[in-house]
Amino acid sequence: MLNKRVEEALNSQLIVEAYSSHYYLAVASWAEVNGLGGTSEFFYEQSDEERMHMLRLVKFINERGGKAVIPRIEMPQNDFKSLRQVFEDFLKHELAVSAKVNEVVGICHEEKDFPTMNFMQWYVSEQIEEEAVVRTILDQLNLIGDDKSGLYHFDRDLKNIKTPQITINNTAN
Ligand code: FEO
Repeated sequence: MLNKRVEEALNSQLIVEAYSSHYYLAVASWAEVNGLGGTSEFFYEQSDEERMHMLRLVKFINERGGKAVIPRIEMPQNDFKSLRQVFEDFLKHELAVSAKVNEVVGICHEEKDFPTMNFMQWYVSEQIEEEAVVRTILDQLNLIGDDKSGLYHFDRDLKNIKTPQITINNTAN
């Protein structure tokens, strides 16, 4: 059986991942109606990945004898000033997610729940990779500045940036 405190921490991480999926869906949709096809595709994919992160938690909690609680999701921001704002907010959000992941790992450690700590290690690695991708993108945006043709190419090339794909199978770490 899952320790209650660990189960609560995992369920609160589930909310974070569900919100992330919703948030990136809003960004993808905004980009789509603003002619930013590459950005839109990139965020649709991010949204799908975050949903997989959520599903992975649902399955793990239930398999370990806990109960996953599917949350109501808060409405995300639906309008953005610029691509720069989109990616700066993206990094801020991922840093906040990393802090939450670390909190869960800390609770697992305190409760001596080493199997769950091992499971959460996947999220720790995923966050490191995601943060690195966003930082690379922000560096590119900083180089481009407000140059319209640069932004056009940036959006087009974003289609080719991939973040790591995951599998839902919890045992396949
Ligand atoms: Fe699954 Fe990047 O949070």
